[in-house]
Order: sequence, then structure tokens, then C-alpha cells
Amino acid sequence: MKISSVEKNDLIPLKKILSKEFSYLKWDPAFIENRLSDPSLKMFKLMEGKKFVGFIELEFMDELTARINGLAVKNGFRRQGHAKKLIDFALAFLESTGIEEVNLLVRKSNQHAKKLYESKGFYLAGIHDRKIQGETIEVYAKPLAEKDYLN
Ligand SMILES: CC(C)(COP(=O)(O)OP(=O)(O)OC[C@H]1O[C@@H](n2cnc3c(N)ncnc32)[C@H](O)[C@@H]1OP(=O)(O)O)[C@@H](O)C(=O)NCCC(=O)NCCS
Repeated sequence: MKISSVEKNDLIPLKKILSKEFSYLKWDPAFIENRLSDPSLKMFKLMEGKKFVGFIELEFMDELTARINGLAVKNGFRRQGHAKKLIDFALAFLESTGIEEVNLLVRKSNQHAKKLYESKGFYLAGIHDRKIQGETIEVYAKPLAEKDYLN
């Protein structure tokens, strides 16, 4: 198991997983390539040997805030802790860049993902201002750097 940056040569397995799990967007190769070269976005992949097992996409919203835009683990590799590892890796990466708060959008009905995010310290922070495919979207958030206000 290894986590590293997604590269342009990951386009084929990446397109496959994005199209399956986030089918409300059209994932043509040019769109994916643009995202990979966008400096406000960062994508990490989890590999089992040569198999592309999952990914996490992060977006820098401003100097202190980032968002987890997407997270998926392939069917057949689930419930083995891969998503937890991707989140841990992403949070450590974001903390190292000075990010102080991470948020994410998740379908209200996606109980599995919500359980996962809650286990990583995210809390329900509000309701997103628009629906996706008719579904209510919740905003979850997690502060990264605990500030010591006594000093
Ligand atoms: C959500 C998703 C990323 C989880 O990936 P995963 O590698 O299976 O997750 P993990 O093995 O790290 O599981 C972590 C925790 O999440 C929860 N969870 C994940 N899948 C679950 C399921 N099918 N049933 C119940 N709880 C589940 C559990 O709390 C689990 O901990 P546990 O196994 O100790 O009980 C994966 O199911 C997926 O890709 N789903 C489709 C895309 C998606 O919904 N992405 C998230 C929204 S952006």
C-alpha cells in the first residue's frame, strides 16, 4: 500500500473511478488533465502494487481553508481502512501547508461516508446552499491546528 500524488499517466484508472462514483459530472480526459495541473487542487492515489485502488482530491479554498472535493475506494478494496489512510495522509499534508480548517460536502444519505468522516473528527457544520441530483448536501468541517489561546 502506497499513497502518492496522482500523475497524468494515471488518467485511465482515474477516469474510470471518477465516472463511476461521481457520475453527475462528465469526466472527459481534458477536464481531468486540467484539474491535475490546477495549482489550487491536489490529488493523491492509493496503490496496492500496480493497482489503482482509490484517490482523494483536495482543493485550497483560501490561505487557511481547504476542502476534500472527492474520495473514493474501488469496490472490492473497501472496508480495509484505505479511505481512512487517504484521509490521514491528506490531513497531514494539509497541516504541513499551514491549512487550519478542512471542510467537505457529502450527500445527506451517504451514511457510510458520514460515519467515516465523523470517525476522523469531522462534524456537521451546515447544509450546502444547493442540492446535487435532487439530494440535500451536508457540509462537514474539521479544525486542523488546535490553537493555544492561553499564550
Ligand atoms: C466511502 C468510501 C470512500 C469508504 O472507503 P473504505 O476504504 O471502504 O473505508 P474504510 O475501510 O477506511 O472505512 C472507514 C470507516 O467508514 C465506515 N464505513 C465505510 N464503508 C462502510 C460500509 N459499507 N458500511 C458501514 N460503515 C462503513 C466505517 O465506519 C468504517 O470503519 P470500520 O470499518 O472500522 O467500521 C467508499 O465506500 C467509497 O468509495 N464509496 C463511494 C464514493 C463515496 O461515497 N465517497 C465519499 C463521498 S465524497
